[in-house]
Amino acid sequence: MTIKETDKKFILPTYGRLDLEIVSGKGSTLKASDGKEYIDFGSGIAVNTFGACDDEWIKAVTAQLGKIQHTSNYYYTEPCSTLAKMLCEKTGMSKVFFSNSGAEANECAIKAARKYGTDQNPDKNIIITLKNSFHGRTVTTLSATGQDGFHKHFTPFTGGFVYAEANNIEELKTIANKNCCAIMFEPIQGEGGVLPLTKEFVLAAKEIADAHDMLLIIDEVQTGNGRTGKLYAHQHFGISPDIFTTAKGLAGGLPIGATVFSEKLKDIMPAGSHGSTFGGNPISAAAAINVLSRLDDDFLAEVTKNSRYLWSELSKIDGIEEICGMGYMIGLTTRADAKEILKKCLENGLLVLTAKDKVRLLPPLNITKEELDKGIEILKTVIETI
Ligand SMILES: Cc1ncc(COP(=O)(O)O)c(C=O)c1O
Repeated sequence: MTIKETDKKFILPTYGRLDLEIVSGKGSTLKASDGKEYIDFGSGIAVNTFGACDDEWIKAVTAQLGKIQHTSNYYYTEPCSTLAKMLCEKTGMSKVFFSNSGAEANECAIKAARKYGTDQNPDKNIIITLKNSFHGRTVTTLSATGQDGFHKHFTPFTGGFVYAEANNIEELKTIANKNCCAIMFEPIQGEGGVLPLTKEFVLAAKEIADAHDMLLIIDEVQTGNGRTGKLYAHQHFGISPDIFTTAKGLAGGLPIGATVFSEKLKDIMPAGSHGSTFGGNPISAAAAINVLSRLDDDFLAEVTKNSRYLWSELSKIDGIEEICGMGYMIGLTTRADAKEILKKCLENGLLVLTAKDKVRLLPPLNITKEELDKGIEILKTVIETI
């Protein structure tokens, strides 16, 4: 049986897989089982921060593999504590809870917000999220996700979420009240179509949250770890959240989630209130230390510069009607159907993604000029001839 046949026989068909068996890769070039090479403009959905099999990253991961791969969370481990220190020092936050995915990082944020609210008043448990948002696939993070399409099949869902329209300050003011314990949003709605929030809305949300003693939770699962040209996208707005969550690109290709808390919340989750067997796993933590230590100001300036080049080349392609997003998180409104473009790009050796009706690009942050140009050329040919 081929990889595809075995997969089809033994794996639940929850993913609409494309007809491609990836076997290896280096940087932003991936290789399929038939030997064909592909330029990667997707990074495994914003995960492979430094592309495939980056030498420095492999060194950091394998060095830790030779020491200890896992302990229970009853013991202290060096990679976990060092990573928490780095995350706090780089963001001005105070405490971290480690888990394994974006959904799990958000679950922790939601639990902490409910604890914060109900410690004051048992009815203060409502969380405001935004319409068109995406926060994960667990029952509670599906509830947090403000899209009706995700609220099917798995009833009963977790209650206590209300949805406000993105960038609508007046609506947010109307919805917020003393029984709301938090407002939670993505700085750019990734799965929702790469839609950035306005600075005015983010600043107003912070004010409204403060006025009602609600926590401001920022979901940086997709926008974080250098993707937008800042370490975390909320840093573009000059605000400090009470909690932010990160996952995907943090460990550059190994599972990790982190919920990061401000000083105000440093005591919110006491011993026994939360846990995760693999949370803070030494291998993932060693990988994340490598990633974070390389996302310094010089590297982020390069991301900004190189992504501007990509935006400028994309703006010259006939058939792209609008470009949205920030840095290397890009959504393209195209004259032709986005899914058709994705299929044709695949045939021509380029991996792209879609988000709603847009083509979505999330290239590795260290993609070379040569790989970028190759990808742009394929995209141009596909879009202009489709
Ligand atoms: C903004 C956001 N939050 C949460 C998630 C869920 O992350 P995970 O799939 O790691 O659980 C995603 C995944 O796409 C996301 O984009």
